[in-house]
Amino acid sequence: MDASAWDDRYRHSELVWSAGPNQFVVERTSGLVPGRALDLACGEGRNALWLAEQGWQVEAADFSEVAIEKARRIAGHRGIPVSFSVADAVTGEGLTVFQPFDLVLVAYLQLPDPDLDAALAVAASMLAPGGRLLVIGHHLDNLDRGHGGPTDPAVLHDPARIADHLRSVRPQLDLVHSGEVERTVDTPDGPRRAVDSLVEAVRHA
Ligand SMILES: C[S@@+](CC[C@H](N)C(=O)[O-])C[C@H]1O[C@@H](n2cnc3c(N)ncnc32)[C@H](O)[C@@H]1O
Repeated sequence: MDASAWDDRYRHSELVWSAGPNQFVVERTSGLVPGRALDLACGEGRNALWLAEQGWQVEAADFSEVAIEKARRIAGHRGIPVSFSVADAVTGEGLTVFQPFDLVLVAYLQLPDPDLDAALAVAASMLAPGGRLLVIGHHLDNLDRGHGGPTDPAVLHDPARIADHLRSVRPQLDLVHSGEVERTVDTPDGPRRAVDSLVEAVRHA
Protein backbone atom coordinates (compact mmCIF):
# COMPACT_ATOMS: atom_id res chain seq x y z
CA MET A 1 0.00 0.00 0.00
CA ASP A 2 1.29 3.45 -0.85
CA ALA A 3 0.97 6.57 1.31
CA SER A 4 -2.33 7.66 -0.25
CA ALA A 5 -3.90 4.24 0.38
CA TRP A 6 -2.80 4.49 4.02
CA ASP A 7 -4.17 8.05 4.13
CA ASP A 8 -7.57 6.72 3.00
CA ARG A 9 -7.47 3.97 5.56
CA TYR A 10 -6.67 6.39 8.38
CA ARG A 11 -9.18 8.96 7.11
CA HIS A 12 -12.04 6.47 7.17
CA SER A 13 -11.72 5.21 10.69
CA GLU A 14 -11.52 6.90 14.04
CA LEU A 15 -8.55 4.91 15.35
CA VAL A 16 -7.33 2.17 13.03
CA TRP A 17 -4.95 0.60 15.55
CA SER A 18 -5.74 0.10 19.20
CA ALA A 19 -4.88 3.19 21.19
CA GLY A 20 -2.83 1.29 23.77
CA PRO A 21 0.82 0.38 23.15
CA ASN A 22 1.82 -2.95 21.65
CA GLN A 23 2.50 -5.48 24.41
CA PHE A 24 6.00 -6.33 23.15
CA VAL A 25 6.99 -2.67 23.11
CA VAL A 26 5.93 -2.53 26.76
CA GLU A 27 7.68 -5.79 27.66
CA ARG A 28 10.97 -5.10 25.90
CA THR A 29 11.41 -1.46 26.92
CA SER A 30 10.04 -1.38 30.45
CA GLY A 31 13.40 -2.08 32.12
CA LEU A 32 15.35 0.43 30.02
CA VAL A 33 16.55 3.84 31.14
CA PRO A 34 14.61 6.29 28.95
CA GLY A 35 16.63 8.23 26.42
CA ARG A 36 16.02 9.30 22.83
CA ALA A 37 13.62 7.11 20.85
CA LEU A 38 12.54 6.96 17.22
CA ASP A 39 9.29 5.23 16.17
CA LEU A 40 9.51 4.57 12.42
CA ALA A 41 6.18 3.96 10.64
CA CYS A 42 4.43 5.09 13.82
CA GLY A 43 0.87 5.20 12.45
CA GLU A 44 -1.36 7.06 14.88
CA GLY A 45 1.45 6.97 17.43
CA ARG A 46 0.18 4.55 20.06
CA ASN A 47 3.71 3.31 20.85
CA ALA A 48 5.38 6.71 20.53
CA LEU A 49 2.86 8.23 22.94
CA TRP A 50 3.33 5.46 25.47
CA LEU A 51 7.13 5.71 25.28
CA ALA A 52 6.94 9.47 25.83
CA GLU A 53 4.74 8.86 28.88
CA GLN A 54 7.51 6.60 30.23
CA GLY A 55 10.01 9.47 29.98
CA TRP A 56 11.50 8.85 26.52
CA GLN A 57 12.19 11.83 24.30
CA VAL A 58 10.38 10.59 21.21
CA GLU A 59 10.49 11.37 17.51
CA ALA A 60 8.01 9.49 15.37
CA ALA A 61 7.53 9.33 11.62
CA ASP A 62 5.13 7.83 9.11
CA PHE A 63 4.61 8.43 5.39
CA SER A 64 0.84 8.89 5.87
CA GLU A 65 0.09 12.57 6.41
CA VAL A 66 -3.34 11.67 7.77
CA ALA A 67 -1.85 9.31 10.35
CA ILE A 68 0.61 12.00 11.45
CA GLU A 69 -2.16 14.62 11.69
CA LYS A 70 -4.15 12.24 13.86
CA ALA A 71 -1.12 11.38 15.99
CA ARG A 72 -0.38 15.06 16.56
CA ARG A 73 -4.00 15.68 17.51
CA ILE A 74 -4.01 12.81 20.01
CA ALA A 75 -0.68 13.94 21.49
CA GLY A 76 -1.96 17.52 21.81
CA HIS A 77 -5.21 16.38 23.38
CA ARG A 78 -3.36 14.22 25.92
CA GLY A 79 -0.59 16.78 26.46
CA ILE A 80 2.18 14.36 25.53
CA PRO A 81 5.30 15.84 23.90
CA VAL A 82 6.20 13.79 20.81
CA SER A 83 7.82 15.23 17.70
CA PHE A 84 5.89 13.77 14.74
CA SER A 85 6.95 14.09 11.11
CA VAL A 86 5.95 12.81 7.69
CA ALA A 87 8.78 10.67 6.31
CA ASP A 88 9.39 7.60 4.20
CA ALA A 89 10.95 4.76 6.18
CA VAL A 90 12.21 3.01 3.04
CA THR A 91 14.11 5.92 1.50
CA GLY A 92 14.66 7.95 4.67
CA GLU A 93 13.23 10.97 2.83
CA GLY A 94 11.75 13.47 5.28
CA LEU A 95 13.69 12.18 8.27
CA THR A 96 15.72 14.94 9.85
CA VAL A 97 17.79 13.47 12.60
CA PHE A 98 20.39 15.55 14.35
CA GLN A 99 21.36 13.06 17.03
CA PRO A 100 21.28 9.25 17.04
CA PHE A 101 18.77 7.30 19.12
CA ASP A 102 18.96 5.00 22.15
CA LEU A 103 15.91 3.13 20.91
CA VAL A 104 14.58 2.68 17.38
CA LEU A 105 11.22 0.96 17.02
CA VAL A 106 9.79 -0.49 13.82
CA ALA A 107 6.38 -2.03 14.57
CA TYR A 108 4.16 -3.83 12.06
CA LEU A 109 5.80 -2.32 8.99
CA GLN A 110 4.72 -5.08 6.60
CA LEU A 111 6.56 -4.57 3.33
CA PRO A 112 8.06 -6.89 0.72
CA ASP A 113 11.64 -7.91 1.55
CA PRO A 114 13.59 -5.33 -0.50
CA ASP A 115 11.56 -2.44 0.98
CA LEU A 116 11.62 -3.84 4.51
CA ASP A 117 15.37 -4.42 4.24
CA ALA A 118 15.89 -0.82 3.11
CA ALA A 119 13.75 0.49 5.99
CA LEU A 120 15.63 -1.64 8.51
CA ALA A 121 18.94 -0.36 7.18
CA VAL A 122 17.63 3.19 7.70
CA ALA A 123 16.46 2.24 11.21
CA ALA A 124 19.77 0.60 12.16
CA SER A 125 21.74 3.60 10.88
CA MET A 126 19.91 5.81 13.41
CA LEU A 127 21.21 3.96 16.47
CA ALA A 128 23.58 5.56 18.95
CA PRO A 129 26.34 3.37 20.39
CA GLY A 130 24.58 1.12 22.92
CA GLY A 131 21.25 1.86 21.21
CA ARG A 132 18.57 -0.80 20.78
CA LEU A 133 16.58 -1.73 17.67
CA LEU A 134 13.20 -3.41 18.08
CA VAL A 135 11.51 -4.86 14.99
CA ILE A 136 8.05 -6.30 15.57
CA GLY A 137 5.72 -7.61 12.88
CA HIS A 138 3.19 -10.19 11.83
CA HIS A 139 5.07 -13.50 11.46
CA LEU A 140 4.96 -15.59 8.30
CA ASP A 141 3.54 -18.48 10.34
CA ASN A 142 0.60 -16.31 11.37
CA LEU A 143 -0.97 -17.33 8.06
CA ASP A 144 -1.37 -20.94 9.21
CA ARG A 145 -1.35 -20.67 12.97
CA GLY A 146 -2.52 -17.18 13.88
CA HIS A 147 -5.36 -14.69 13.76
CA GLY A 148 -5.59 -11.51 11.67
CA GLY A 149 -2.78 -9.64 9.99
CA PRO A 150 -1.96 -9.41 6.29
CA THR A 151 -2.67 -12.44 4.11
CA ASP A 152 0.07 -11.75 1.56
CA PRO A 153 3.06 -13.92 2.56
CA ALA A 154 5.41 -11.48 0.78
CA VAL A 155 4.91 -8.89 3.53
CA LEU A 156 5.02 -11.21 6.54
CA HIS A 157 8.12 -11.29 8.74
CA ASP A 158 10.65 -14.09 9.01
CA PRO A 159 12.70 -13.20 12.11
CA ALA A 160 15.73 -15.30 11.09
CA ARG A 161 15.90 -13.53 7.73
CA ILE A 162 15.51 -10.12 9.37
CA ALA A 163 18.29 -10.92 11.86
CA ASP A 164 20.62 -12.05 9.04
CA HIS A 165 19.88 -8.89 7.09
CA LEU A 166 20.56 -6.64 10.09
CA ARG A 167 23.86 -8.40 10.80
CA SER A 168 24.91 -8.00 7.18
CA VAL A 169 24.12 -4.27 6.97
CA ARG A 170 25.31 -3.44 10.50
CA PRO A 171 27.95 -5.89 11.75
CA GLN A 172 28.21 -3.82 14.95
CA LEU A 173 24.74 -5.06 16.03
CA ASP A 174 24.50 -7.75 18.73
CA LEU A 175 21.36 -9.84 18.46
CA VAL A 176 19.39 -9.99 21.72
CA HIS A 177 16.33 -11.86 20.44
CA SER A 178 15.06 -13.27 17.18
CA GLY A 179 11.99 -15.46 17.00
CA GLU A 180 8.24 -15.73 17.23
CA VAL A 181 6.11 -14.37 20.04
CA GLU A 182 2.42 -14.79 20.70
CA ARG A 183 -0.18 -12.16 21.35
CA THR A 184 -3.82 -12.61 22.36
CA VAL A 185 -6.34 -10.74 20.23
CA ASP A 186 -9.85 -10.11 21.51
CA THR A 187 -12.43 -10.84 18.83
CA PRO A 188 -16.27 -10.99 18.89
CA ASP A 189 -15.83 -14.79 18.93
CA GLY A 190 -13.53 -14.69 21.94
CA PRO A 191 -9.76 -14.48 22.35
CA ARG A 192 -7.58 -15.60 19.45
CA ARG A 193 -3.83 -16.10 19.12
CA ALA A 194 -1.68 -13.98 16.80
CA VAL A 195 1.84 -15.07 15.92
CA ASP A 196 4.28 -12.17 15.71
CA SER A 197 7.96 -11.87 14.88
CA LEU A 198 10.29 -10.05 17.26
CA VAL A 199 13.88 -9.11 16.50
CA GLU A 200 15.86 -7.11 19.01
CA ALA A 201 19.46 -6.00 18.57
CA VAL A 202 21.84 -3.66 20.36
CA ARG A 203 24.61 -1.66 18.75
CA HIS A 204 28.02 -2.16 20.43
CA ALA A 205 28.98 0.75 22.65
C1 LIG B 1 0.23 -1.65 10.50
S1 LIG B 1 0.56 0.05 10.66
C2 LIG B 1 1.51 0.11 12.16
C3 LIG B 1 1.55 1.44 12.80
C4 LIG B 1 2.31 1.50 14.13
N1 LIG B 1 3.70 1.13 13.98
C5 LIG B 1 1.65 0.65 15.17
O1 LIG B 1 2.22 -0.38 15.56
O2 LIG B 1 0.57 1.04 15.62
C6 LIG B 1 1.81 0.27 9.40
C7 LIG B 1 2.22 1.70 9.22
O3 LIG B 1 3.33 1.74 8.32
C8 LIG B 1 3.23 2.93 7.58
N2 LIG B 1 4.10 2.79 6.41
C9 LIG B 1 4.01 1.88 5.41
N3 LIG B 1 5.01 2.06 4.52
C10 LIG B 1 5.73 3.11 4.98
C11 LIG B 1 6.89 3.80 4.50
N4 LIG B 1 7.49 3.44 3.35
N5 LIG B 1 7.36 4.83 5.22
C12 LIG B 1 6.75 5.23 6.37
N6 LIG B 1 5.65 4.63 6.86
C13 LIG B 1 5.16 3.58 6.18
C14 LIG B 1 1.74 3.06 7.28
O4 LIG B 1 1.37 4.36 6.93
C15 LIG B 1 1.16 2.60 8.62
O5 LIG B 1 0.94 3.70 9.46
